[in-house]
Amino acid sequence: MIELKNVAFTYQEKIVFQELSLKVEKGQKVGIVGESGCGKSTLLRLIAGLYRPAEGGVTVDGENDPEKISQKVSIVLQTPMLLPLTIRENITMGHAFSEEWIRQVCAASNLTKWIETLPNGIDTYLGDRADELSGGQAQRIAIARAMCKNAQVLLLDEPTSALDGENAAAVLEALDHFGEDKTVLHVTHRPEHLVGYDRILRMEGGKLLEANASCAWRAVSL
Ligand SMILES: Nc1ncnc2c1ncn2[C@@H]1O[C@H](COP(=O)(O)OP(=O)(O)O)[C@@H](O)[C@H]1O
Ligand SMILES: [Mg+2]
Repeated sequence: MIELKNVAFTYQEKIVFQELSLKVEKGQKVGIVGESGCGKSTLLRLIAGLYRPAEGGVTVDGENDPEKISQKVSIVLQTPMLLPLTIRENITMGHAFSEEWIRQVCAASNLTKWIETLPNGIDTYLGDRADELSGGQAQRIAIARAMCKNAQVLLLDEPTSALDGENAAAVLEALDHFGEDKTVLHVTHRPEHLVGYDRILRMEGGKLLEANASCAWRAVSL
């Protein structure tokens, strides 16, 4: 489903990966941990087709064209990117969805209560409110956007880091439920958020290690 083969990636001078390879089967739930700056966000962006590898290849569902890959992947970025549009447009990204589906993804992202307090509800223009928006609200809109797209691959980059405990627990449960029939890669600093996952990977020194059944770290097998 997802395959990275000998991927190299560099920001200007900074080498993040050399010869990075990984295979993720369809439907697998994969947790990724590792220290700040080791390249977890870069890895998700490469898989989502937002960055292109300098060397090697990334395929999702057999596809290697970044534009086609981006149709197959929903990503919740570590730093939400909201547009000066309405909440609805930030969630649908201009695509047509039923009111019922939009209602469901807002409920799953714990947005409903807040949206109901706004004079124009989901059609509130965010450009006027960007300063008033909390990090948690922005992150929940980003989660609703990823859910709304409903792609087969779900990439989560510390998706609840800006949420308070209660919101985080509810949204994580909704994400787990939502991801049940999907391939999920979830980057987090909180291993307890990865309970029940099929695989746990750790990124270190530009390489991926995988925890085996006795909790020892081994190079990922291909
Ligand atoms: N846009 C960028 N330009 C230059 N360097 C970057 C950029 N984004 C990330 N980096 C660097 O690349 C490395 C990996 O970053 P990142 O993938 O964000 O790590 P992580 O998500 O594991 O914290 C870090 O050293 C970071 O400073
Ligand atoms: Mg990161």
